[in-house]
Amino acid sequence: MSQLAFHGGKPIRTRAFVEWPQFDENELKNLERVIRSRTWFAGMRGSDPGTRTAVFEEKFATYHDAQHGIACANGSAAIEIALRAAGIGAGDEVIVPALTFIATLSAVLQVNAIPVLVDTVYNTQCIDPEGIEKVITDRTKAIIPVHYGGHVCDMDRIVDLARKHNLVIIEDAAHAHGAVYKGRKVGALGDMATFSFQESKTMTSGEGGMITTNTSDLAERCIQYRSCGRHEGESWYIHHVLPLNYRLAEVLSAILLAQLERLDDQLKTKQASAGYLAEKFDTIEGINPVPGDGQTDVNGYYWYLLQYNPSEFAGISRDRFVEALNAEGIPSHIGYPWPLSRNPMFESIQEGARGCPYTCPYYEGKVDIRKKNFPVAERICQETVVIPHQVLLSPKSDLDYIIAAIKKIQAQARTLL
Ligand SMILES: Cc1ncc(COP(=O)(O)O)c(C=O)c1O
Repeated sequence: MSQLAFHGGKPIRTRAFVEWPQFDENELKNLERVIRSRTWFAGMRGSDPGTRTAVFEEKFATYHDAQHGIACANGSAAIEIALRAAGIGAGDEVIVPALTFIATLSAVLQVNAIPVLVDTVYNTQCIDPEGIEKVITDRTKAIIPVHYGGHVCDMDRIVDLARKHNLVIIEDAAHAHGAVYKGRKVGALGDMATFSFQESKTMTSGEGGMITTNTSDLAERCIQYRSCGRHEGESWYIHHVLPLNYRLAEVLSAILLAQLERLDDQLKTKQASAGYLAEKFDTIEGINPVPGDGQTDVNGYYWYLLQYNPSEFAGISRDRFVEALNAEGIPSHIGYPWPLSRNPMFESIQEGARGCPYTCPYYEGKVDIRKKNFPVAERICQETVVIPHQVLLSPKSDLDYIIAAIKKIQAQARTLL
């Protein structure tokens, strides 16, 4: 066997995997149409009749089994808009997973509410419903479950808890475009769902976001927060709610319309690739796909998640393993480095001059985000290896390189100590 690429040997894989983002004539044709139309802006409410954005919203929402879609600037704005639409604000608590991208939490702070972190389930990496139940107080107003990596959270239990305690559910589906839970797509499993179209996501326009919902009132409030607090049929200069501008430009909707057409086939390819890889991983000790809980019919596979056990790799750390895997030409990374609670921002926020929102007079709870321990999320952050979604779009013969690279590293793991 040749020397590890990490030590200067020839990588197992020398050609690139599938390139990302993908585009073809459809993106170009749609873009040209918008550019020639000289309507580059989606109207005073952000998706006025006849705009590409209005068409995209309708198609995206329908695809996700939801009645309304509200396009916006990015996935972070989508969560903030959803929280504002639900009336969440100062003094309220919102439950979020300890393991997610910062936007899930920072959107809560944006509306002056308090994020309450909850640990995750090892085999799904999604928020733990038992943990949710333990932190519900009379201040809790919402839960933001994140469909982690593309696996859908345990929504039946989360919906039960939300009903019992009268909580709003905002699914953060930034990782889970097109994912299916017990026969239903993400998007209207709770009250609202949010999506991101940032470039790493499974459909993209570089930046962009969407909120979906089945509730007309919430949809109307989302539109108002998305576009300057305006009402339909009124002047541009009459504002009914906090006048934010989080609109999506027409050129981005033009790209997204083409991206959406590809999503279903891509999801099928990714399910098949994941199934193929799972069988191959059976032949290697010490590295396994995150198994899930059997409730997700179609995984969005933003990240193909692996659990790495160093003891089967001569004790080399996960980080060293990922370096060696990349050197062999296999795109991979470690995902989020730690639970959100460990971010330095929590020191300064609590020590800020005025301390809002934590010391806001409306908030009567006690906040100690940094002191909380999230053992499952910590473990996941130590053990996870992420293969990005576009790799799963490769032909099966290409996927074999992943397995070959891991076997090569395993056989020579001692040299990496
Ligand atoms: C789970 C999650 N939520 C929200 C976001 C925010 O999306 P955006 O980058 O479009 O603001 C992201 C982006 O990576 C994400 O991963």
